[in-house]
Amino acid sequence: MRHSAICLEHCSRGRPRVQAFAPGRVNLIGEHTDYNGGLCLPFAIERGVTVTANPLPGGAVDAHALDLGESDSFGLGGAPPAGPGAGSPGWTAFVRGAVAELTRAGIELRPCRLDITGDVPRGAGLSSSAALSVSLCLALCAVAGAQPPGRIELARLCSRIERDWCGAETGLLDQLASLFGERGRALRIDMRGPEIEPVPLELGDHVLATLDSGAERSVAASGYNERREECRAACRALGVESLRDAESHEGLPEPLGRRVRHVLSENERVNAAVEALAAGDLEELGRLLDASHRSLRDDYEVSVPAVEETVKACKEAGALGARIMGGGFGGSVLALFPPGVAPPAGAERVEPGPGAALAPPAPAR
Ligand code: GLA
Repeated sequence: MRHSAICLEHCSRGRPRVQAFAPGRVNLIGEHTDYNGGLCLPFAIERGVTVTANPLPGGAVDAHALDLGESDSFGLGGAPPAGPGAGSPGWTAFVRGAVAELTRAGIELRPCRLDITGDVPRGAGLSSSAALSVSLCLALCAVAGAQPPGRIELARLCSRIERDWCGAETGLLDQLASLFGERGRALRIDMRGPEIEPVPLELGDHVLATLDSGAERSVAASGYNERREECRAACRALGVESLRDAESHEGLPEPLGRRVRHVLSENERVNAAVEALAAGDLEELGRLLDASHRSLRDDYEVSVPAVEETVKACKEAGALGARIMGGGFGGSVLALFPPGVAPPAGAERVEPGPGAALAPPAPAR
């Protein structure tokens, strides 16, 4: 996606209208490594959030969540519209956070109406929140005729929206996957940098599918922030700045030792998965998914009974590998099925789709 090209559609009355789409993501492997300076292998999915923005007279942002039938309106300028952590509940905290963070980044926003709609399920571990914050930021900048921050900077800004406005201290995995996604490719992300390298995802007749465990997760309410705190405590105990610099988990008190063992072994599994893909060894990829799940369940302790049932259902259906995906404590399971094996009922096939973008301008009439 080229951020230098701001696409404005001029409707018949000459008012610019813009539309931005940002996808959710699947993470093939590399979980709870992003905030530890580690490795992950996500891809953007076809489903996501679309924000349509129309300029308005006056001084307000008028936001409508079309799928929920809810609205929010607040003034632009002056003090940020709500304080950190005290943001209005749910989606409105993202809108207010996006406006406040873009303004703080020096971007002059304009009054507008925002219509938000999406087809990525909320609370299913497919990063509907990153899709929402990225699409909001792109639409708000475009309708103001402003250049958005570069993609890595924008990913950081969107992560601040989640941390300071929605109470979820996420890493950059979801936002980078949404912004850098490419059709047909996963992204090997080394969070040191970050450095992003597209990796062709050639599955032949194998199928990757997600299956919702039905246990709704909310990053803010789950043990996610607690895991981050445990990782910080492990860094202090080891005298390293990031767990990427940790050499071993040995000698650490529990549960910190188990947490570090997961992070170190998961980084290795990301590289092994990249190698397995390059070699076309999908059986090995399946074994790595299983190993990742065991590590997330036993060492990182982010699984719940509904997720275990879902993993079991995928394995019994014949999956080569299946694992809990995303922050944990619920959400979706990702599984790899060999040719000719049907995923269980309710599973959705996932394929890498393009990253976030503004809709191209409408053809001249
Ligand atoms: C959530 C967070 C990400 C990442 C994953 C776990 O999806 O938003 O930043 O930490 O959990 O890998």
